[in-house]
Amino acid sequence: MRLTSRSAHRHEARRAAGVATGKTRALLRRTPKREVGATAPQPCAGGAGARGRASRSVGHPVPAAADRGLESIGVTESLTVRDNRTGQEYDLPITDNTIAAKDLGQIKLGDDQPGLATYDPGFVNTASCRSAVTYIDGEKGILEYRGYPIEQLAEGSTFLEVAYLLIHGALPTKAEYEQWEHDITFHTFVHENVKGFMEGFRYDAHPMGMLMASVGALSTFYPEASMIQDAENRQMQIVRMIAKMPTLGAWSFRHAQGKPFVYPDNELSYTANFLSMLFKMSESKYEADERLVRALDTLFILHADHEQNCSTNAVRSVGSSQVDPYSAVAAGIGALYGPLHGGANEAVLRMLRRIGNKSEIPAFIEGVKNGNERLMGFGHRVYKNYDPRAKIIKKACDDVFEVTGVNPLLEIAQELEKIALEDEYFVKRKLYPNVDFYSGLIYEAFQFPPEMFTVLFAIGRTPGWLAQWLELTQDKEQKIARPKQIYTGDRGLEFTPRDVRWA
Ligand code: CMC
Repeated sequence: MRLTSRSAHRHEARRAAGVATGKTRALLRRTPKREVGATAPQPCAGGAGARGRASRSVGHPVPAAADRGLESIGVTESLTVRDNRTGQEYDLPITDNTIAAKDLGQIKLGDDQPGLATYDPGFVNTASCRSAVTYIDGEKGILEYRGYPIEQLAEGSTFLEVAYLLIHGALPTKAEYEQWEHDITFHTFVHENVKGFMEGFRYDAHPMGMLMASVGALSTFYPEASMIQDAENRQMQIVRMIAKMPTLGAWSFRHAQGKPFVYPDNELSYTANFLSMLFKMSESKYEADERLVRALDTLFILHADHEQNCSTNAVRSVGSSQVDPYSAVAAGIGALYGPLHGGANEAVLRMLRRIGNKSEIPAFIEGVKNGNERLMGFGHRVYKNYDPRAKIIKKACDDVFEVTGVNPLLEIAQELEKIALEDEYFVKRKLYPNVDFYSGLIYEAFQFPPEMFTVLFAIGRTPGWLAQWLELTQDKEQKIARPKQIYTGDRGLEFTPRDVRWA
């Protein structure tokens, strides 16, 4: 995988500073000038330890690391931590605005005691990897793939080109693009046994469940995929997976409708072929309206990556065991299935239908503010501003509705957005529309049933999952994902066998 020149430059700078890989991160332990607390734990407030800590006010610049010797290993920024249980102070290197959790682990009450750890459910403030794939500034509402703003890619690129960019780290030359398009197109077919396998699902199986199982099953068709250290082999699986996702997605859709599976048409573009496999009936060739093809292609671009979200974290976490990429991506599909992640747009539609009328919006908003439910399609873990993808989707709505006619729920959605954006509750919490607020409306205009929404998301997200997986496989700092826990259960109970307990 190529690094972009900017990220490569930064990587080199860190390497030169001796802190690039984290291996050389050091933690200096020093006895504070003003000894406090000896080794006995100190109270947080009022004790000498607390006074010592208070003397360095929050936000006050920490004395230069050079004063304490970290400079000798190339560290120019550091954090001084005082353990009030022992009175010890520690200098922790800061790299890329982070401290290494393993540095904290060296802070102990004694050599035989566990090291200090952080508690971070949902990883809200923990970086688990270095990544050069996607940049997000949630406060400013910025999203970039490999440095290119999403707005420009959505406007001028194609999904396949964006997929190439994500996987290879740079835009393709004409020859590279043609080869890439050819390779993807000619791997859209699946083994006939996959078809048989998919036909075996219950008549009303959820297409996302079918997709997850079929992607996992592909690992049995390509056992060589387990050789993840082999670069050529990795590329082969990446091409296969991006190529076959629309086939599996479309067949999952057709199965629930009791319609025959449509084979790929290699003369069509990636997205036009997907629409053909979804909707073709007895006609010899299915050619969708070009405006619909373009709108769906744009939606795929918008979903192509989103840095360390729930499903990408699942792909990386499962991939960290060095399993094949089909199994890792199947795990990502599972994560995406959930209503707080990919399932939100389906929930938005249900919500809009339940509201039913603009006059009901104030009562609905009141219910949300009282904590009865959430305003689906609003709020984001990262964006504390308008999700840039939501703006593009809002515009794509117009293009699609021009072909399909306006979805009557659009009016309710627009009014809901207007009211929420002016309401103190949402303003204070920085809750803005996210990508899912309008995407469901578009998908419905395509006549996709809500169960298909996450499947569409999964097809779009596949290059992102794979780019992140590829990065993971080559990242020497990565380890098998294995978070810590804080144990809260019983200890040392004595077991009594059943026949005694039940006597
Ligand atoms: N409606 C009402 N209140 C909300 C909402 C919402 N949609 N989202 C967050 N809040 C409130 C929440 O109750 C909390 O209030 P308080 O501080 O009074 O307890 C505050 O805002 C912070 O919420 P949080 O749950 O700590 O925020 P989070 O970052 O953990 O959750 C989220 C992010 C996306 C899960 C959440 O905003 C949510 O549930 N939104 C609705 C579901 C949704 O639209 N999901 C799609 C996400 S975008 C697609 C993707 O990238 O996967």
